[in-house]
Amino acid sequence: MRDSFGSKFGTLVAMAGSAVGLGNLWRFPYLVGENGGAAFIIVYILLGFLICLPIFVSEFIIGRRSQKNAFAAFRDLSDGSAWRWVGLFTVIVPLIVLSYYSVIGGWSVEYLIKSLTFSFTGGSSRAQISTMFSGFVSSTWAPLGVHTIFLLTTTVVVMIGIKDGIEKFSKVMMPLLFVIVLTIAIYSVTLPGASAGIDYLFHPDFSKIDAKACAAALGQAFFSLSLGFGTILTYASYASKSDNIMTQSASTAISDLMFALIAGVAIMPAVFAFGIDPQSGPGLVFETLPYVFGQMPAGGVVAILFFLALLVAALTSSISMLEVAVAYLMEEKKFSRLTACITLFVICWIVGALCSLSFGPLSHIKIDGGNLFDFFDSLSSNVLMTLGSLFTVLFVGWRLKKTDIYDEFTNGGTLSANAKMFGVLWFLIRYICPLAIIAIFLTNLLS
Ligand code: ALA
Repeated sequence: MRDSFGSKFGTLVAMAGSAVGLGNLWRFPYLVGENGGAAFIIVYILLGFLICLPIFVSEFIIGRRSQKNAFAAFRDLSDGSAWRWVGLFTVIVPLIVLSYYSVIGGWSVEYLIKSLTFSFTGGSSRAQISTMFSGFVSSTWAPLGVHTIFLLTTTVVVMIGIKDGIEKFSKVMMPLLFVIVLTIAIYSVTLPGASAGIDYLFHPDFSKIDAKACAAALGQAFFSLSLGFGTILTYASYASKSDNIMTQSASTAISDLMFALIAGVAIMPAVFAFGIDPQSGPGLVFETLPYVFGQMPAGGVVAILFFLALLVAALTSSISMLEVAVAYLMEEKKFSRLTACITLFVICWIVGALCSLSFGPLSHIKIDGGNLFDFFDSLSSNVLMTLGSLFTVLFVGWRLKKTDIYDEFTNGGTLSANAKMFGVLWFLIRYICPLAIIAIFLTNLLS
């Protein structure tokens, strides 16, 4: 019998775990500050609910309707048509993402170890902290070692199964993550000078809202909600037929937004309290913050909490990426869960190792001006996830039968609130989402 989540709460924390990840901690706070503060947050929420939530619901419908892996879901719901290749696409993309994501996951393992050994409590200068980071990522063995630890942990959780592995892990880790990030946020706002960081995050500047800011908001929301690469679809295939798709989807989206906002409040006030200009991505997390931790009272403890949170957030996302292909290999190729996990571990380890080495021994290999890691990152966030989301809404809006979608969304007509909102949802999925996705795609391509 097919494994499944044991409860509504289990499904919710697993989905929220997939959504809440590095995207919330290292990209969202910076994007907000750069693109108009509260004005950007308003745009993010509006676009999130008008565009991303319908895409999320679409993935949920495909997954739960079929109760199959992503490949079989597209194949079976379209009577074996060429749509199955879209299914295969959504099986392959998360493997690419997992490969480079695991490299950064490995860095968070390394930095957790560094903070446990109190490496950031001394009076190191910013230059010393930056040199520590560049020295580490450009070396050969240490990043490979921690990439292995991270990927192995991901693989072991997935190997244990849906209910006993992924669900139990998420049930423990997500509340822990929430408590840690909230604790750091409370501490951060009490630091003298923290208000400059709050101002950076929340001061509304509507003059910064243009097409590029909207594209940035949507791109971030896609990545953050794990849309367009099979993870939500696969998790939904393990959800109970009695779950309310709308409430589960909206709760996941709201949790993801809350985490992103709290992460912003945890990070930016602390950065500004020490008079530092924030950076985005690895620079913020592995260069700026360790310096800030070194300066603040009790910074050693905050550093441990922060890197633990980063690691947990990354792990709950990476397990969802691995599960997509595990489900495919088990159901379509008749692999056991163990063999599927080992096979995928080897593949992702090799691709991830190449990404890891692209900061050091393989840094001479350039694609489109960046190293292999940058190439995979920008290819998946700017092209593959966007395409995956476009295919998903086109499939639900134009290929599936409207009556089947209604039936799935309203649990056979029993959920009256869902029945009332179905017309709007249908319109958004069929017309607005595809047009909006094409618009972001073109804006990203032309900018
Ligand atoms: N949704 C995951 C993140 O934000 C991929 O990191």
